[in-house]
Amino acid sequence: MLEDEFVDVFGKAMRGTRVSVEQLAKATGLPASQIAAWAKGSAVPSEDQARALAGPLHLDPGKFADAAAVRWHPAPIDLPDVRHHPQQPHPSNGYVFFLEGNRRAALVDPAGIPQNLLRILRDGAYNLQYILITHKHPDHCDATGDIASNFPQAQIVMHKADVFAIGDLASRATLIRDGEELPFGDEARIRLLHTPGHTDGSSSFVFRSTVFTGDTLFAGSVGGAFGDVSTYADILNSVRSRLFTLPDDTVMMPGHGPPSKIGWEKAHNPFF
Ligand SMILES: [Fe+2]
Repeated sequence: MLEDEFVDVFGKAMRGTRVSVEQLAKATGLPASQIAAWAKGSAVPSEDQARALAGPLHLDPGKFADAAAVRWHPAPIDLPDVRHHPQQPHPSNGYVFFLEGNRRAALVDPAGIPQNLLRILRDGAYNLQYILITHKHPDHCDATGDIASNFPQAQIVMHKADVFAIGDLASRATLIRDGEELPFGDEARIRLLHTPGHTDGSSSFVFRSTVFTGDTLFAGSVGGAFGDVSTYADILNSVRSRLFTLPDDTVMMPGHGPPSKIGWEKAHNPFF
């Protein structure tokens, strides 16, 4: 299952473009009552209806029709050097990635029950070098204190616009500058991308040919635009200018839903 169903994509696009049901009805000639039912998720438009709606919402018509018909799902992806961890009780995704051989690890988004994360890290006897935080929402960072106190040598990395969310730990965080690289082990590097729009400090992390996108980009969708100063236009621009400029075979590991690839998102994500 994709993180966002048709109704979610439709709602995000309506809110983002500030187009009302009445305006959509006027622009497409479709009945307002029917559009309202699609916006509530109690019905789904046909191929032609979805294509008609896409124009005023600035969505791709063919990809939006595919979303309505549930025609696309990314093929499963399993990477040897990235481990997914669930973040119960949250529905979000966290990840640990590591350098084979020397047990050096980096954690993306410490959230949920801390014992679950600590078990993963201790099982591998990992030397945790970085705690990378994609953004300020609790389902992505509410276990930061527990992980940081168990791994005091680990460097916390977060954007300054969101860093208040980790309280006193903010003073020891490395603040993200867009495009900067951090050394990881002897040869690897982690590239930091500022991808605002979901939140003002939303960030993505590139390790080898994998990008961790937090709630900026999902398979077949984008995160909601909840920034204080950044907007829906910013989230789309972040994806276009920071994520879609990565090679097409880059694996995308999102904060919610299944992994995908940058090339697959270009081909199937209705927002682009
Ligand atoms: Fe979020």
